[in-house]
Amino acid sequence: MTSRKFLTTPIYYATGDPHIGHAYTTVLGDVLARYYRQTGADVLFLTGMDEHGQKVQEAAAEQGVDPKTFVDRLAATFEAAWHQLNISHDRFIRTTEPEHVAVVTAFLERLWDKGLIYDAMYVGWYCIPDERYWTEKDVGEERLCPDCQRPVSHVEERNYFFRMSNFQARLIKHIEDNPEWIVPETRRNEILGFLQKPLQDLSISRPKSRVRWGIPMPFDPEHVCYVWVDALTNYVTGSGVIDPEREPDDRGFGSDTSHSRWPADLHLVGKDIITTHCVYWPTILMGVDLPLPRQVLAHGWWVAAETKMSKSLGNVVDPLALREEFGTDAVRWYLLRDMPTGSDASYTPERFLQRYDELANVLGNLASRVISMIDKYREGIIPDAPGKAMDAEIARTLEAVSENMDAFRVHDALAAAMDLARAANGYVEDREPWAQAKDPERAGDLDETLATLARVLTVLTALFEPVTPEKMADLASRLGLATPPTLVEATRVPLSGNVVTKGEPLFPRPELLAKGDLP
Ligand code: MSP
Repeated sequence: MTSRKFLTTPIYYATGDPHIGHAYTTVLGDVLARYYRQTGADVLFLTGMDEHGQKVQEAAAEQGVDPKTFVDRLAATFEAAWHQLNISHDRFIRTTEPEHVAVVTAFLERLWDKGLIYDAMYVGWYCIPDERYWTEKDVGEERLCPDCQRPVSHVEERNYFFRMSNFQARLIKHIEDNPEWIVPETRRNEILGFLQKPLQDLSISRPKSRVRWGIPMPFDPEHVCYVWVDALTNYVTGSGVIDPEREPDDRGFGSDTSHSRWPADLHLVGKDIITTHCVYWPTILMGVDLPLPRQVLAHGWWVAAETKMSKSLGNVVDPLALREEFGTDAVRWYLLRDMPTGSDASYTPERFLQRYDELANVLGNLASRVISMIDKYREGIIPDAPGKAMDAEIARTLEAVSENMDAFRVHDALAAAMDLARAANGYVEDREPWAQAKDPERAGDLDETLATLARVLTVLTALFEPVTPEKMADLASRLGLATPPTLVEATRVPLSGNVVTKGEPLFPRPELLAKGDLP
């Protein structure tokens, strides 16, 4: 049976252009999606835009355009960015789509029918940039958001509340029974710590007098749905589990979700949005009777030389600018190779160049020397020899890569793949094919050397395809293959007789690499 994988990125606020943080989460999702496809899984990879709420409404007003025009523009910008970064998502969802609006409405009706929503006065504090409520105690005397340190606004209004507190015990039990549900463990502990305090009910509406740009509450059109409830539900919309057109009892709520892709196997999120994903979202799902996602993986933050990257600080790195100079694959490689999944990492031009050098000097160099030697010594034809001299290293690498990928240690998986390229460069030095070529009696040895190297390169195209898909497609074609093989096929691809093609270096040294010129 083919295994199935449904993985998601957060949907991005339609307030500003994509930056390195958005790019990182999306590329991480893409590398995992491509890796799962390589192992033969039927993958659904979902990403998209979070387009409602006060923050979007205000950003549109600032530019003097209506919110719909504003979000259409940004959705197009994000889609273009993902296209440029070679993201292989299966669906780009937008919360303003009629299908999503209908699913959110069905969620709200379900919670209402089950008596899980009531109305009350809300008196407290609100952080508009984070779209989060805070209590008096949370914001302290300075009245700052505990998460982002920006000033909060006082709100006093009638709201609808979801009885989130009803589900506290069940949620704690779920987290305790499923140690891998939230990874890494530090984030799991953070959520368990948060759940030690009594869980409050969640305000899930805004009066239209304050926020117009949202999905109307089906039982009170003077209020719109809280943007986080709206946004989180995108994962269910994307799974196809709910059919809002049907009668309320027959819409697909319940534990049998086999007609759809729900539950998600993996929600990828940044560490700043774990409370919404690991507390609000599971309790809402419990409220409507849907199974919980199987896992939530929280990654760290990209910082600029130890300071948080933020628009207001003016130090946001633009991944698309780096891409223009170094190519898409170099950016993808840097983002994933340099950040241990789960920890923070600091962007510096020096680190970027160091990582680029690894691509150029280890992988790129191996590819060009192997192809040149086959061209020079064997008229461009991969010799007919077993080529198994590096099979032990190949097997070890394949094992290390899958072990690390399965545990989301993508950086370690990539390091292991690069080590195989390094070992192959070592093999070239040991075998000295240039000396073998001078001695007609060693023609068989030379065939073996070249066949071994062609085999390693083929395996490398499979190993690097998730992170550098464009370059690996190029390398595969230079080895006479239509596409990089899957990981399952990589060691079985017949190569002898293939004609290789020499070409430009895979990772050229760009002009003008003065560090100061890097964004
Ligand atoms: N719209 C919400 C998510 C709703 S999901 C149902 C949101 N959007 S966001 O655009 O602000 O951020 C989306 C993601 O980008 C988050 O996972 C966040 O962690 C990530 N990043 C934003 N800046 C970042 C860095 N500097 N570094 C790494 N990731 C960061 O939150």
